[in-house]
Amino acid sequence: MDNLDRFSINNIRKEFMDFFKSKEHLTEQSFSLIPKNDKSLLLIGAGMAPMKRYFTGAEIPPSNRMATCQKCVRTGDIDNVGITARHLTFFEMLGNFSFGDYFKDEAISWAWEFLTKTLKIEEDKLWVTVYEEDTDAEKIWHEKVGVPLERIVRLGKDDNFWELEVGPSGPCSEIYYDTGEGKGCGLPDCKPGCDCNRYIEIWNLVFTQFDKDEKGVYHPLPNPNIDTGMGLERVATVLQGKPSVFDVEPLLSIIKKIEEITNLSYGKDKNKDTAMKIICDHSRAATFMIGDGVIPSNEGRGYVLRRLIRRAIRKGKFLGIHREFLTETVQVVINEWEKAYPELSEKESYILKVINLEEEKFKITIDQGLELLQKEIQKIKEADKHVLDGSIAFKLYDTYGFPYELTEEILNENDFELDKEEFLAIMEEHRKMAREARNKTGSSGWKNKDFNIDAAKTIFTGYTEVSDEAEVLKIIVNGVENNTIEEGQSGFIILNKTPFYAESGGQVGDTGKLAADEFEADVISTNKYNKDIYIHEAKIMKGSISVGDNIIASIDVDKRKNIAKNHTSTHLLHKVLKQILGEHVNQAGSYVSEERLRFDYTHFETIDEATIKEIERRVNKAIFADYKVFTDLLDIEDAKKSGATALFDEKYDGVVRVVSIDTFSKELCGGTHINETGKIGLFKIISEGSIASGVRRIEAITGKAALNYLNYLNDLVDGLSETMKTTREELLSKVNNLKKELKDKDKEIHKLNNEILKNNINEILDDYEEINGLKLFAIKTKDKDANSLREMADKIKDKNENCIIILASDLGNKVLFVSSVTKDLVKKGIHAGNIIKTAATVAGGGGGGRPDFAQAGGKNPEKINEAFEVVKNQIKEIN
Ligand code: ALA
Repeated sequence: MDNLDRFSINNIRKEFMDFFKSKEHLTEQSFSLIPKNDKSLLLIGAGMAPMKRYFTGAEIPPSNRMATCQKCVRTGDIDNVGITARHLTFFEMLGNFSFGDYFKDEAISWAWEFLTKTLKIEEDKLWVTVYEEDTDAEKIWHEKVGVPLERIVRLGKDDNFWELEVGPSGPCSEIYYDTGEGKGCGLPDCKPGCDCNRYIEIWNLVFTQFDKDEKGVYHPLPNPNIDTGMGLERVATVLQGKPSVFDVEPLLSIIKKIEEITNLSYGKDKNKDTAMKIICDHSRAATFMIGDGVIPSNEGRGYVLRRLIRRAIRKGKFLGIHREFLTETVQVVINEWEKAYPELSEKESYILKVINLEEEKFKITIDQGLELLQKEIQKIKEADKHVLDGSIAFKLYDTYGFPYELTEEILNENDFELDKEEFLAIMEEHRKMAREARNKTGSSGWKNKDFNIDAAKTIFTGYTEVSDEAEVLKIIVNGVENNTIEEGQSGFIILNKTPFYAESGGQVGDTGKLAADEFEADVISTNKYNKDIYIHEAKIMKGSISVGDNIIASIDVDKRKNIAKNHTSTHLLHKVLKQILGEHVNQAGSYVSEERLRFDYTHFETIDEATIKEIERRVNKAIFADYKVFTDLLDIEDAKKSGATALFDEKYDGVVRVVSIDTFSKELCGGTHINETGKIGLFKIISEGSIASGVRRIEAITGKAALNYLNYLNDLVDGLSETMKTTREELLSKVNNLKKELKDKDKEIHKLNNEILKNNINEILDDYEEINGLKLFAIKTKDKDANSLREMADKIKDKNENCIIILASDLGNKVLFVSSVTKDLVKKGIHAGNIIKTAATVAGGGGGGRPDFAQAGGKNPEKINEAFEVVKNQIKEIN
């Protein structure tokens, strides 16, 4: 094997996994880029990040030794991508982890063994650093491994202490690769820690001993752990002796694709190379993010993704690309990485669709946005200023879809700056408004999680039981633990076991009753705390209960049945959508309650009425077929092999629950279902539409609710028939006839209005005022439509020259304006559009039009006179 193959990204990844497997590590596929149960992170940026709970002991790992190649996204240094040799926003991190198992000794020796024996790196190319107080690590490196003391460097906390904002952290030891004498500053004492690029850090071994909390306090962990991280692309680059990560395959294949698209050669022009590298990196990050279920949006992860895609598009423009191109670079990413990450080929068409959609969307506005920004830059330049107002950046963001970072970057390229504070303030103001609007619609949610409890995992018996005897383990009143809860009080009750389903997977929690001798409580919601502790929110109706007491917990059975009908229908709907619209359909969200179901799914085109009907028909067909519904507990691998649909961005471990509906549908699901589809009775879609780019929503009802809905429609038709004094069968033709009649009558009224106008025209023709030699007709009417006003204006014009007409019609809650100007005055520069704009603005509206004719509307008819006054003054000024 030559060096290029041995040090290829694919080979290093494979060797690493094999090596740690041989050291009894459980080797796992990468976790999703989307963190689970961790609000402190937007995206996974290190191998250990998805495993924080294993380090802290909050969760038991499947093995005490694990190794992964983790997908990571870090955007903190995005500005360096393409500029420096090694920065990437997306990268793969190799890591081995010990959860209270082995410690420094093994971690250090194995790292050395892997590098020098497996990858066969010459020993004297490797240097190490240790935390300045960590004599243990230094001893192991020197005495056990045999690294000479002159190649061990002690560094301080800045360099050799690893931590995230929150979570496991500790001192670390880093391994460096010496790229050779000619590569660095050349100073005699140059060594790791020097700012020059001669020594490159390739592997970080963290001796995880602390858990850092939100306040920055370090709590010692019960067991010391090991967390290591080696950037795969970086290590391949240095070992292959390439100048940058982009010169290493398969990244270079993406660059080659960009060369092909642009007809440019990589390596000829520094700025162009940088743009190519940025497109390469961002294409990769976007591909993996979409593959893990991130959708471009203006919030959170979606915003990070949008920013990367839009930045790549702009770099494409810089390279002279005038067409959509990102699907081509993304296709290369999928082809090159699908072997190591099978999710990429599974979701290929979906990923390409999302990219394409986002690119199309930005294409519409990017040129206008860039033009606006150029003009604004010109303006500040002329005004001898160098800062752009935040409001312009906000307009670019809001109207033209420019992430503000993009605006800032373009400004910086031109040596200007953005008033970021102002931008953020405007942004916050808008967010606040949106939040307030949302709050007004009122969603309470489960707010009372502000307590800390430690209780045993609740046993859920609700798959088979609707009522069960249980022991009270904890009681929480007003946010604190209590021994007792009494009549009239509300609080949270934790039991050792429960038939109450806790809200999860989109299915609402159960309600029902808790009872004992002389005690009765209503359970108004059930939620989960820390994944497996069930919390019953209860209002005590009678008596009291204490910790240790036994009670009978009974759910509201009717409600549960309706929820089950809706949940099983959701699975039918999911399957039917895949059948009719295609395999790219994935669940993006779901809400299942007693009243209805709401299903959000990925799809990129609108759906016509006929298709909606067909979806509904097929779901009903599956209901009428009365399929059996059954559940199995399977190992995740077996479940996947059996073809069960898993949630798009969910990572499952161990044994999973699979819900099958005959052979029609099979999904991983923890929810409660009915046992035969026939029990659903009926399925009715009540709405369908788009909720975000690439995401649509269907709302539907089933069973009794569907019947009630149909009855309601039935009554509506009956009511209409009665009002129209006809039969149901005749209703449609009767309404159509009526519509035609109304239209004829409109015409008639119009004719009559004209007659009236003709008779009154002489009056109107006198109704003008002379201003500086021209005639102004400013006439106020009532209840006239735009056509009548126009005719009136034409009549005046027929008999006059040298006149300006402005007519208003008071329509009660609004006002209509028409303005007309005779040709001779138009030639002199008088503009009906301007006149009408003035008038409409005064009356709370807007509009415009041609120089000889214009119309507009306003909200305040009481302002007509004032509007005329303002117009009059304007005309006075013209002359
Ligand atoms: N968690 C350590 C890092 O990311 C290994 O560098």
